[in-house]
Amino acid sequence: MMHEFSYCVPTEVLFGAGTSARVGEMAKKYGAKRVLVVYGGGSAVKSGLLEKVCAALAAEDIACQTLGGVQPNPRVSLARQGVKLALEMQADLILAVGGGSVIDTCKAIAHGTANPETDLWEFWKRRVPLTKSMPVGVVLTIPAAGSETSDSAVLTNWEESEKRGLSTQFNRPAFSILDPTLAATLPKKQVSCGIVDIMMHTFDRYFNPITDNDVTDELAEALLRVVIRHAPAAYADPADTAAMSEIMWAGSISHNGLTGLGGAKDFAPHQLGHALSEKFDVYHGESLSAIWSSWAEYVLPANPSRFARFAEKVWGITEGTEQEKAKAGIEAVKAFFRSISMPVCIKELPCGVQPEEGIEDLALRCSYQKTRAIGSFRALSYDDIYAIYRAANQ
Ligand code: NZQ
Ligand code: ZN
Repeated sequence: MMHEFSYCVPTEVLFGAGTSARVGEMAKKYGAKRVLVVYGGGSAVKSGLLEKVCAALAAEDIACQTLGGVQPNPRVSLARQGVKLALEMQADLILAVGGGSVIDTCKAIAHGTANPETDLWEFWKRRVPLTKSMPVGVVLTIPAAGSETSDSAVLTNWEESEKRGLSTQFNRPAFSILDPTLAATLPKKQVSCGIVDIMMHTFDRYFNPITDNDVTDELAEALLRVVIRHAPAAYADPADTAAMSEIMWAGSISHNGLTGLGGAKDFAPHQLGHALSEKFDVYHGESLSAIWSSWAEYVLPANPSRFARFAEKVWGITEGTEQEKAKAGIEAVKAFFRSISMPVCIKELPCGVQPEEGIEDLALRCSYQKTRAIGSFRALSYDDIYAIYRAANQ
């Protein structure tokens, strides 16, 4: 039976090759007159996209200012700068030209600008509830985080050495333009990080204690099969629009809630990964692939039949006992990650194998100094978290 849920994704999606040329029209539709355009470390400048976006806004008589320099694992400090700028120019739309890091920075700028009396990190620390924000638009350049339709935003406070997510309906962008041709300039590493993240957004919903939401489960399995089918071509050539278009749309619906409706989100691998990014500044996608199989093997006894179903429906593994199929499914994920050059343990990350103190520190960070448990498929305490990091460090 389908279990209770609430589903509201108000973001208008404009999808297709070439649609980024319509950004001026979309900004106008949402009433923009003064736009703060935010971008990353330079790829949007190099490709000429930023210039085209500003020209498209100007063509609709929309004024714009730009703010660049967003880094992967985006910093609160730059978002604060963005708030200042948005207030000065009285921006009425914050426009992201980039991936998850740029979009999340824009969400933060929007919250900070709408609430100038509050430092925006207070919202991420849950010390002040967020009750209003302002519109964010997106021109997506990388299929990965799903932030273009998601209700979350993840920021890193470098001074406090913390990476934190905030989930709220105020995080849903007003509109998102998904033009798969923009991903053509992606480095291969970012293509594979994105593919992992997309799969993980569905894994982290699929592996949960409620296993009889048939529509949800079948949608999740289909999405994963499609990503696995098209990933090799997108990885081989990011300019392959046929493959990239499938991956890009899968990325949005993998994290807008659809593949988990009626379930109880798990998201333990994401929490485990966030501590790795917080400590070592590794890319989000690689933090996830490095930890997933150790997590999966650890939680498998909680519900082997779920893993066996996953192996059958997603990987076509039909031979063997339930336990054998379940294990083969985990191995299939590892082999797939390796096929797109992604790490499957900590020592394959840029930080390399960790000393004992490093593993303890990760477990302390992830458990918020032993004050929280994570996960729902199997709830994980500090000791469990420590054991998973340790296994991933072998
Ligand atoms: O900064 P530039 O020069 O633009 O380069 C970026 C960056 O180095 C590059 N890139 C993006 N599009 C490109 C391109 N290079 C060439 N051509 C293009 N078309 O890719 C690199 C990574 O960009 P980033 O925005 O960091 O990638 P991603 O979309 O994977 O976002 C990762 C961030 O999103 C968070 C992650 O934790 C991480 O901080 N997440 C956000 C979520 C959300 N808001 O819903 C959910 C996710 O689970 C995730 O936690
Ligand atoms: Zn993610």
